[in-house]
Amino acid sequence: MEEFLTHVKDGLSRLPKKLSSRYFYDAKGSGLFQQIMQLEEYYLPRCEMQIIQNQSESIAKDISANHSSLQIVELGAGDGTKTKHLLRQFSGHFKQLEYVAMDISPNILAVNKDEIKSGVKSLNHISIAGNYFETYKKLDRARHGRLVMFLGANIGNFHNAEAITFFEFIKKGLTPGDYFLVAFDMVKHPRKILKAYDDSQGITKKFNLNLLERMNRELGADFDISNFEHFPFYNPVTGITSSHIISLKNQTVKFKDGFTVTFAAYEAIHTEISKKYFRSDIEEIAGESKMKIIQTYYDDNKEYAFVLFQPCA
Ligand code: AVI
Repeated sequence: MEEFLTHVKDGLSRLPKKLSSRYFYDAKGSGLFQQIMQLEEYYLPRCEMQIIQNQSESIAKDISANHSSLQIVELGAGDGTKTKHLLRQFSGHFKQLEYVAMDISPNILAVNKDEIKSGVKSLNHISIAGNYFETYKKLDRARHGRLVMFLGANIGNFHNAEAITFFEFIKKGLTPGDYFLVAFDMVKHPRKILKAYDDSQGITKKFNLNLLERMNRELGADFDISNFEHFPFYNPVTGITSSHIISLKNQTVKFKDGFTVTFAAYEAIHTEISKKYFRSDIEEIAGESKMKIIQTYYDDNKEYAFVLFQPCA
């Protein structure tokens, strides 16, 4: 809570105002995100599932050409429903398979374990709860035969410069010949992208405005949610969807500890970026972080891609 308060005070004192999307995911926000993933307009999970169903065998074959045993580390593993299908395909290609699920939530990891164990036999399952920027550092760095997975298009919540730093961080846990598999949401028709972040049922609106509710709940703020609006836009030049919360009038919000924030009418709080990728973006991230692209696996419409990387020698 202390960390959240410090972040809020800093972000709302800036011009322009800004809050990090990592604070979306309290219990209510995580529930809303589950609902977003069911939405027709939020196409991303279906693209991801199509790749998992159609390409897991190819991915396993490509990796097993170099490794007979594999440790798979998944960052932000979630409930395991999708990964189960991938691991099932992998299990036929490796003598030994270990799966390390890393997630901030111990509850979701318990679900992950049951899900994976019920779907995949003869697999060593390890759960590590915590912020993966911390837990990843604790892995045995010298271990050979590792695949790190970062799926769900989560990389899109980073700017390219941050993605490069993230790739460099991941590389520290890879030995030569190890792999990094990342899911990228590719550029597509701008209207399709915009709808994914401005759905007709208003679930994404609730998800974004939950940040204000969270400040009310946890920090004793007095945001009147009806005085704010969800406003996303997509820039086809940069491939970035930016989400904002707009203040609909001049207003002042007070926090329990006396901190106050003043909003001008139509002033925005920037809350999230969701980057859509040109091939050149992926090449740039790989080049700058000294990783090489080994293979790309697409969904049927080439709107979403799993890209397999290896550290450059
Ligand atoms: C988690 N992340 C990849 C989602 C995205 O598409 O940026 C979060 C999200 N924000 C609004 N809808 C979904």
